[in-house]
Amino acid sequence: MIYIGDQRVGSRFCFAPVNTGFCRNGEPEERLVKFHRERSGPEIAISYVGNVAISPEHRTNDATGYMDHDLSKWRRLSAAIDDNESLPGIQIACRAAPDKAPRKWRNDRRTFVESARQALTSMPEATLDELWNKFIRAAEKASEAGFKIIQIHAAHGYLLSQLMNRLINVRRDQFGGGINALERMIQDLRNHLPDTILDIRVNLFDGLEEPNEELSYRIEQIGRLIDAGCNMISLSSGIYDIDKFAIYPEASAGNSVYVEYARKIALLFERTKINVAGNIRDVVSLKDTEPLNLMFSIGRPLIADPGFIKNALTGKNSTECIWSGHCHYYSRMRPHIECKVNKAI
Ligand SMILES: Cc1cc2nc3c(=O)[nH]c(=O)nc-3n(C[C@H](O)[C@H](O)[C@H](O)COP(=O)(O)O)c2cc1C
Repeated sequence: MIYIGDQRVGSRFCFAPVNTGFCRNGEPEERLVKFHRERSGPEIAISYVGNVAISPEHRTNDATGYMDHDLSKWRRLSAAIDDNESLPGIQIACRAAPDKAPRKWRNDRRTFVESARQALTSMPEATLDELWNKFIRAAEKASEAGFKIIQIHAAHGYLLSQLMNRLINVRRDQFGGGINALERMIQDLRNHLPDTILDIRVNLFDGLEEPNEELSYRIEQIGRLIDAGCNMISLSSGIYDIDKFAIYPEASAGNSVYVEYARKIALLFERTKINVAGNIRDVVSLKDTEPLNLMFSIGRPLIADPGFIKNALTGKNSTECIWSGHCHYYSRMRPHIECKVNKAI
């Protein structure tokens, strides 16, 4: 029996947050509802709707959703997931970069760090205060729209991820010092939404320092986020503007790229669910793995075949993801997600 907060789920596997490009004017289109209806079911604990911005100005691109006043389409989306017996999850995000994200997969690290540091340092305190309020409002709306898991996006070099990085965040006010302000946001969310399952997606590795150095201070930050009220910590890696391969590992990186680190963290924080993504393919061997608070998020294989988890658990074959990169619509300058092996997406 697996519980996330007070919610019982039938599996340790989730559909990872994925930005599909299936939103218009910030609202989900019917094909996003279909996409998540197909990618939910008793064998999928949480179906996360990826990258929903706190406001139109903080979207990743024009086809990215945001939380607006009229929640009817968001309600329809959460209900489609709920009706299929997965927990509806939503990722609340804020991209606050002066430039558009690069489409290239690898970009210069130093240029990014310098410009991100400069942009974050020069952001007025009042602007950040306003963004903090927008996070709270977006999370409240998402909960009102029926989402049971609210995931705060603090990974992949988005605003909150930059704030957590000690080379980028050198502010000296209340938003400096790593995650003081993020802790406050989690405490506020906990107070505003006492019954919601709060999840935060953070990077194990940003890729800016020696991996062990980054991991050790990240583990300390994770402990503080749990104390502040997070029920769940989701783990990924990489900064979108520097190295997309760290976010979406290639086939050559092997299976379960980040599981050994997630396992270590799950053992340290036994009462919190730790949810890791990155080339999770071997569902059968991970199904009974220890520790029991470790969960797994799967992206591309479920894009390629919505039945991927169910098929694996029942010994059937799936249409397999071949790492073609077709799903990365933004990099490919396409309007929305596509899949080389699943044309029916
Ligand atoms: C097309 C696509 C869009 C993605 N969009 C998001 C996103 O909006 N937010 C996020 O945190 N991760 C996003 N990811 C990353 C996935 O959540 C996941 O961590 C990553 O794909 C690694 O898992 P996988 O190897 O099972 O695909 C996206 C991945 C893909 C393939």
